Amino acid sequence: MSARPMPTQETEQSSAKRFIAAVRQLHADEPDVDQRWEKMGSLLSELLADPSVKAQSEQWPSCDQGGLTAAEGGQRAQNLLLYEDPDHGFVINGLVKAPGTRTSIHDHAHNWTLYGVLDGNETIERYERLDDGSKPDYAEVRKTENAEVGPGKIDLVRPWQIHAEQSGEERTVAIIVRAEKPGTFLQGRYDPETRKYWQGYGPTQIPCDFE
Ligand SMILES: [Fe+2]
Repeated sequence: MSARPMPTQETEQSSAKRFIAAVRQLHADEPDVDQRWEKMGSLLSELLADPSVKAQSEQWPSCDQGGLTAAEGGQRAQNLLLYEDPDHGFVINGLVKAPGTRTSIHDHAHNWTLYGVLDGNETIERYERLDDGSKPDYAEVRKTENAEVGPGKIDLVRPWQIHAEQSGEERTVAIIVRAEKPGTFLQGRYDPETRKYWQGYGPTQIPCDFE
């Protein structure tokens, strides 16, 4: 008489755990950084499509987005820290924006970022830099894209890309994978009106359960 098979680890794993395992595997298997971040998109899509992930995000607190301009002090924004990988260094962040919240126009310096919308609708803006960067504290930027996006949208933000996001009339939630934890290195900030450029540290990390 054969014993009843034990449930496999696979069937017991949550989407979050499966996603983390798959991203770890991708880091081990894909040495080409461009390829790695391109391939990660389909893994994040799967995570965003799981209703249990959206259900747990309903408990996540809103994140401050800090000051919008240098004049406002360039305060630091907040992200929820859902996971930090001990071997590969990548992190998974949650970003909950209250209705009518706008991020600053910024870049992420050298850090790779995969941004996925989990809940709510928002606008993703992209900018291009027009000057050569030789003048201190100065940058000319021009908006090149203004995309209305909703749940399931994946946006790959390559190093140094200039962008902003804005929530509409509802709360929006994003899950973000970053190559390394932000907050310890300087990132660019841009004000197209005054052409002011300055740098500030990335979001502070607020630990949050992700199961
Ligand atoms: Fe960003």
